Amino acid sequence: MCGIVGYIGKRNAVTVLLNGLQRLEYRGYDSAGLSIIEDGNLLTFKKQGKVKELIKVLEGKEFKANIGIAHTRWATHGEPSDINAHPHHDNSGNIAIVHNGIIENYASLKQMLISKGYKFVSATDTEVLAVLIGYFYEKVKDLEEAVRTALTEVQGTFGLAVLSTYEPNKIIAARRGSPMIVGLGEEEFIVASDASAIIQYTRQVIYLSDNEMVTLNNENYYTKTIDNIRTNNIVHLVDFDLSKIEKGGFEHFMLKEIFEQPQTIRDACRGRLIVEEGIARLGGLLPVLDKLREVDRIIITGCGTSWHAGLVGEYLIENLCEIPVEVEYASEFRYRNPILRKNDIVIAISQSGETADTLAAVQEAKQKNATVLGIVNVVGSSIARQTDAGVYIHAGPEIGVASTKAFTSQLVVLTLISLLLGRMRNLSKIEGIRIARGIKELPEKVEKILEKADQIKEIAREFKYSRNFLYLGRGYNFPVALEGALKLKEISYIHAEGYPSAEMKHGPIALIDENMPVVFIAPKDEIYDKVISNIEEVRSRKGRVIAIATENDETITRYAERVIYIPDTLPMLTPILTVIPLQLLAYYIAVELGCNVDQPRNLAKSVTVE
Ligand code: F6R
Repeated sequence: MCGIVGYIGKRNAVTVLLNGLQRLEYRGYDSAGLSIIEDGNLLTFKKQGKVKELIKVLEGKEFKANIGIAHTRWATHGEPSDINAHPHHDNSGNIAIVHNGIIENYASLKQMLISKGYKFVSATDTEVLAVLIGYFYEKVKDLEEAVRTALTEVQGTFGLAVLSTYEPNKIIAARRGSPMIVGLGEEEFIVASDASAIIQYTRQVIYLSDNEMVTLNNENYYTKTIDNIRTNNIVHLVDFDLSKIEKGGFEHFMLKEIFEQPQTIRDACRGRLIVEEGIARLGGLLPVLDKLREVDRIIITGCGTSWHAGLVGEYLIENLCEIPVEVEYASEFRYRNPILRKNDIVIAISQSGETADTLAAVQEAKQKNATVLGIVNVVGSSIARQTDAGVYIHAGPEIGVASTKAFTSQLVVLTLISLLLGRMRNLSKIEGIRIARGIKELPEKVEKILEKADQIKEIAREFKYSRNFLYLGRGYNFPVALEGALKLKEISYIHAEGYPSAEMKHGPIALIDENMPVVFIAPKDEIYDKVISNIEEVRSRKGRVIAIATENDETITRYAERVIYIPDTLPMLTPILTVIPLQLLAYYIAVELGCNVDQPRNLAKSVTVE
């Protein structure tokens, strides 16, 4: 949540910071601000609203500063307002800080500071940290030591950057539970919460670990723990380029990412799918192959769309590998005292690799000595680093707040893992080859569905004023019903619910009348006839049926008002195809309604707070 960028070097800091904020805006967009040091003075500008509101404030002003920090916010403590926007100052006005995360003991720290005469202007926990750093600075007269000491007093999470006129050629950054990356340029450093703010300037980065801080000055940098022990960091190369984080001619990132799926599915399989042998090779799982051979139970955990992918994973693994699987919301897992046995494996799924609940579930599982695997998109993210082993989905940066390409890539990786595990158990080579062939054909089939975008846009126009939608699917496509409903509600603010088709008669059927569109996911598989019966139940109550069906299925046209066809594939692979029209339907409805698709209200990419 929230985005941080800091710069020190020879460039115009304001330009670099605003560039960075625009790239990070998808992480939070209710207010933005920056601080720079110019001619020895600390200048801070901040504004409620999107980054463009901050840019308006800066218009017409000339800056020459070469050092600064900036922030784009998703409110946790204190409503979105100019005052609550970051950066925040200490009481002297000489120290500025930007912060992601939550200072859990902010109330008691604030009380302590108030009792010593310190004043506060905002309702944020971040200001408490700023004032605390100022308080320690007065004692130690050393910025790094003041920051370090303050952080030893803090409970909770932080990714932060600090700037001060006391030591005007220095930025100090630190992390605990909220990512911070340092870009190493030539005689310049960019510190950010996300590589997308860095790669325009350099690909060489270091990832700060939890409870680690970095001090950057004009010439060099060094890192240490918050307990004051010097650390060494490996320099990594970020392997995506600028085009991956730009819209590339599409109106929105979400649409671009939907259309990238033929390629991202290929990328998820690249070098991993051995069709002739009917197996998958997953280098990331090599260290745990013995554990995988002995596994008795798998627990999959994640949030939102990643949790939906986990539900498909449950069907896949149970069917192909005959291993019992449980899928659990990460937010529940951590508070439930889960029972984990010796041969249990936990799989955490996360696009960002930073979701606080999923990370906490990983930590809970590790504490209980479980083997924990990750299915993650963002390379070097916290979950990727804290799991014992894992598989990257390689979908490239996902900027649209609504997750699309990450979902299909997660499904591909779950299918590859099922293939690997299945072949280690009872799955025959012939069956393995059949599945591997099916996977290989997916990108072309996705392309064919994308060609139907105009038809789906028409359907969106027709149904855009409906205030409720029901999404129904069975078996492998029940989680797709959940995902279709989630996509619609998060970007168009239309109420939508996903259900297993047969559950409808146990309650939701009461909602059905001529105003209720019901999206049925009804590919030709072994439960097709049952789904048709469910469609009839809706039709006889005048519900309006939109069906996602397998091409050449003529029968369905007798039941559904609108049909969107997908190419035929194996039942277990259908979710990777059936979800595509649902992504497009949600997208076009939201666009028709004039919603901000890439930055829906109240949401932000990557929920790094509880
Ligand atoms: C929905 C969406 C969210 C995320 C969820 C988990 O479109 O994007 O529901 O799926 O916040 O995020 P990750 O996968 O980053 O852990």
